[in-house]
Amino acid sequence: MKTTANHPQTFRSVPATSTPVSKTRVAALLDQEWARFKEGTGKSVQHWDPYPIAITSAQGAYMTDVDGRKLLDMSMGFGAMLAGHLNPVVVAEIKNSLSEGMLFVTPSPISRDAAERICKRFAIDQVRFANSGTEATMYAVRLARSITGKNAVVKLEGGYHGSFDPLMVSCKPSLSEVGDANDPTPVANIGTDPGEVFVVPFNNIESLERVFQANADKISCFILEPVLENIAIVLPDAGYLESVRQLCDQYGIILIFDEVKTGLTAGYQGAAQRLGVKPDLITLAKSIGGGVPVAAFGGKEKYMRAVTDGRLGHFGTFNGNPLAMAGIRAIDQICTPQALEKAEALNQQALVRINEIIDEYKLPAHTVGFGVKGCITWSTTPVRNYRDYKATDFQVAELSWLWSLNRGIITPPGLDEQWLISLAHGQTEIDILVEDFRSLAKALRD
Ligand SMILES: Cc1ncc(COP(=O)(O)O)c(C=O)c1O
Repeated sequence: MKTTANHPQTFRSVPATSTPVSKTRVAALLDQEWARFKEGTGKSVQHWDPYPIAITSAQGAYMTDVDGRKLLDMSMGFGAMLAGHLNPVVVAEIKNSLSEGMLFVTPSPISRDAAERICKRFAIDQVRFANSGTEATMYAVRLARSITGKNAVVKLEGGYHGSFDPLMVSCKPSLSEVGDANDPTPVANIGTDPGEVFVVPFNNIESLERVFQANADKISCFILEPVLENIAIVLPDAGYLESVRQLCDQYGIILIFDEVKTGLTAGYQGAAQRLGVKPDLITLAKSIGGGVPVAAFGGKEKYMRAVTDGRLGHFGTFNGNPLAMAGIRAIDQICTPQALEKAEALNQQALVRINEIIDEYKLPAHTVGFGVKGCITWSTTPVRNYRDYKATDFQVAELSWLWSLNRGIITPPGLDEQWLISLAHGQTEIDILVEDFRSLAKALRD
């Protein structure tokens, strides 16, 4: 029988039984919560419907908004604030670096130090610094194209990698345009010129093999997040990544793991090492820098050599700037195995306690976790790809997000995101998260 068990280093718990929630009840609660949202946030500026929360300051695991409300931050800068807001080591390293100058536009000992730390931790031969995840994924793809002399790219349906044209294909396509689930139609964005892009479903090795078989002579690389973290959290099936690695080797296609989101949130050495599959190239950003704008791409020397021998131009005024490098140096000191394990244990506790509430109230939901991240997925069956994700209950997901926000807990607004237990979160914050979910569960069943 075909296995759909998740990778053993990841967490998913689906309840055996549940009963549906009433759509009318959810709609009434949503009306109530949107009214409450508007009452409490008069000073936030109008931008989207109705408007985002504007923040004035942040410290540790909390932020303060323009209305003076203290919010428990469960988003933590999409993972960039893994060490906590204004972590003293990050602040000290940045101040220290600033005292020596701000921008040299040429290498310095601190950029060498940061590069060595990243290479050691992520077990890569060489690394290049950039300023955003978008740049890192763009350069990784360009590098693959320069090495192979081929231009086509393979990506996942529902995979997000920033805003380089080919990588914007089928990020969140409308179901009216996506075609066959096993052979998805690539959907490009207006205003982009993506070139040739093949799109495959996650956790479907047959589909990937078909695309490789028919087009290997044109394909430079396959890029994916090893755990999808832009459509909530979608886990790789046990064995999937190993098969991907094997197929890429078989067809001479470069395998890129986009670890912009997983990175250190997946564990001390990132997702690739934790999951036991080595890509050819990785991209990093967010969690590696303590909140400064910094990103990186790197990997095997035989590929990175294309940058040093001039086949691929990689330039940028702010690449490897001292303040960004100071952020990396600080995070490398802070994110010890012990510190990350402690945060992961708290995350695990939150997931287990939330499962108990899901069971108690027989909610049509389940929990998913990886490293220090977790989420509640409003579906009674595991989500293994973009189509499954689109079949989850977005109405109750919206309510869950708004419910928390109105009670002082901020999570990312996309309904596709996850919470993050940073090094600044402790038992108190876990209790707040869990008890808030209990209050929602009660309201749904009243
Ligand atoms: C997996 C992944 N790759 C790349 C990016 C792009 O990073 P940035 O926003 O720094 O450009 C993101 C951003 O969320 C991401 O989640």
